[in-house]
Amino acid sequence: MTVLTRSNWMLYGAYGSTGRLILDEALRRGHRPVLAGRDRAQLSALGQATGLSTLPLPLDDGAALRAALSRVSGVLLAAGPYQLTGQPMRAACLDVGCSYLDVNGEIEDFSAALACDAQARTAGIAIIAGVGYGVVFAECLAAQLALRLPDATWLRLSLATQTGARSRGAQLSMAAAIAAGGREIYQGSLRKRALAFSTWRASGADTPRMRFAAAPLAELLAVQRSTGIPNIVAGIPLSRAAAALMRIAGPLLGKLLTRQAARASNTAVASPSAAAIAVLRSRVWAEAGNATGERVAAMLETGEGYHAAAAAAVRALELQLQEPRVGALTPVQAFGGRFALLVPGTSIQEL
Ligand SMILES: NC(=O)c1ccc[n+]([C@@H]2O[C@H](COP(=O)([O-])OP(=O)(O)OC[C@H]3O[C@@H](n4cnc5c(N)ncnc54)[C@H](OP(=O)(O)O)[C@@H]3O)[C@@H](O)[C@H]2O)c1
Repeated sequence: MTVLTRSNWMLYGAYGSTGRLILDEALRRGHRPVLAGRDRAQLSALGQATGLSTLPLPLDDGAALRAALSRVSGVLLAAGPYQLTGQPMRAACLDVGCSYLDVNGEIEDFSAALACDAQARTAGIAIIAGVGYGVVFAECLAAQLALRLPDATWLRLSLATQTGARSRGAQLSMAAAIAAGGREIYQGSLRKRALAFSTWRASGADTPRMRFAAAPLAELLAVQRSTGIPNIVAGIPLSRAAAALMRIAGPLLGKLLTRQAARASNTAVASPSAAAIAVLRSRVWAEAGNATGERVAAMLETGEGYHAAAAAAVRALELQLQEPRVGALTPVQAFGGRFALLVPGTSIQEL
């Protein structure tokens, strides 16, 4: 296995909104990644601005992709939706022995990434999906609760993410998830439910009470894998009326949103001013209980979602660089339950 260093990794999707934020963070921390993506002109502009080498590389050119990956030790895949990009990139990584990280939040592709464990061990590489916002922060918070209540039988996650804007990639990922319908972890397995099949309210000591509705987030699988808690629901903020609409028309709405997002032009998520971004706070609440009725709860607070995702992704890469992990792992399995706290401005409060 070749050692991953600050200059022998590839940032694929470098000119996307999230890719650019990851690149900014990586440059600030002294990395010199190879910049890759499918658009030659956008890559070339980024290469000129940063002085980094660039590689125009469509994912459907398997031979070129394998040749390029064989020259680096790791790739951080920032291009999505992951239902289109994840599989071809992981297949190429497994073939040439290159470790793979991404900021995936899509439950289907996240599941496909975790399913590569045996292949990843044989290849001697790491496949670590979800080192972005939701999975990292929710999974670390859940890991803290699992330590406080080791016999927890259920856990509920409520994610209120604040972002400056929303990228087209994120909208496409979300629309595809809505079209595919709801999910929960029930008795240890992922099962289909209606979208927004359950609603609840959550709040911290000093934060307003918000209503959440169940959503098919990759966090479900990550938390189940690392804590072993058998019943898990995860949700996002939604009014009662919107949840009712989702239950009836969700999959249809997902298809409409997919068409709309595909036609929309991309909004740069870094476009709001730094001052506007700095005041945004994202929060995750987690509650867990056991068979005897004991309950524990905690809240995690961090900054703006895309910036927090970029900060987490670069730190994950650095930990992988310091001590290579092997296998298909969740962020907590790879880096431990306190990993999220490495992201500046992140704190956990017991409730
Ligand atoms: N979980 C998290 O914390 C988190 C946070 C941020 C983003 N994300 C996810 O990250 C992904 C990217 O988001 P973003 O904000 O960067 O979106 P974006 O600004 O719309 O950029 C999408 C990027 O992906 C590339 N891309 C899309 N389909 C591709 C394909 N088939 N082959 C090669 N490149 C492809 C695009 O290249 P072109 O311009 O050439 O199409 C672009 O570089 C999304 O899936 C989003 O949901 C997750």
